[in-house]
Amino acid sequence: MESPFKAEILKGKVALITGGGSGIGYEISLQLGKHGASVAIMGRRKHVVHSAVDALRSHGIPAIGIEGDVRKEADAARTVESTFQHFGRLDILVNAAAGNFLAAAEDLSPNGFRTVIDIDTVGTFIMSHEALKYLKKGGPGKDPSIGGTIINITAVIHYPASWYQVHASAAKAAIDSMTRSLALEWGEDHGILVNGIAPGAIGDTAGLTKLAPREILNQVKREPLYKFGEKWDIAMAALYLASDAGKFVNGTILVVDGGQWLSKPRL
Ligand code: HXC
Repeated sequence: MESPFKAEILKGKVALITGGGSGIGYEISLQLGKHGASVAIMGRRKHVVHSAVDALRSHGIPAIGIEGDVRKEADAARTVESTFQHFGRLDILVNAAAGNFLAAAEDLSPNGFRTVIDIDTVGTFIMSHEALKYLKKGGPGKDPSIGGTIINITAVIHYPASWYQVHASAAKAAIDSMTRSLALEWGEDHGILVNGIAPGAIGDTAGLTKLAPREILNQVKREPLYKFGEKWDIAMAALYLASDAGKFVNGTILVVDGGQWLSKPRL
């Protein structure tokens, strides 16, 4: 679908997207790039990162890929430094890397729980912390009056309680809390905006393939109005938050799910 935003709203900006090689992360990378940003993507799988960079470049987007794991502080530091060395600044960090699987709490090992918290929550903190010096107002390469933007990709699974998602629900709830804390501290001290985007069920993603219970897939077939979102919907929300359109938005979680999490069956 054609973007409703002007093509140059992010001209001159540099964005780093974790998990930017596939799924929602890739679509955000593509749309930020199509709207003027230079893009660095970080991911664990070398071949995925490489082919995503090739695809971005085929759209004329200045792009680099860095292989790394958000759980490792050394990888995070190397990724942020490489982005700065290559593009000379950093304005936008999108924390889209995540890990998940369905597991009943009774069967989930403590290490399974910890692994998802480490990737989603601790990884978001590590990346944000490493990027801080470049994102802050007056940071290297930046307009001294402007701070950068952090966008955390979260979820709606923890608003109610979701079956077999104790690990990811806890991880995403913690990310939402972190978003507000960093928005407060880094907004006040450094002029950085920190927000979240909470996608609902988004078609053509690893999340949907791995997690969607069969009854949801059947519901989509039965009820035409119950539909999946598109990766594009999430990328448009990211564009809004990353551009000047979102310059007074801080510490919010933008739910992009078509209103599904709050809906109950019709009486
Ligand atoms: C139960 C599992 C499991 C499963 C792994 N574990 N998969 N337990 N059911 N299906 C347990 C392991 O047994 C182990 O515990 C621990 O988790 C660590 O597993 P590893 O395989 O060593 O971890 P790692 O290689 O780091 O892989 C991380 C991963 C993996 C999360 C397990 O699936 C992954 O890399 N995923 C990345 C891609 C992804 O999941 N994308 C979807 C994101 S969707 P023990 O005790 O045996 O040592 C998303 C949307 C959220 O985030 C919102 C939903 C709508």
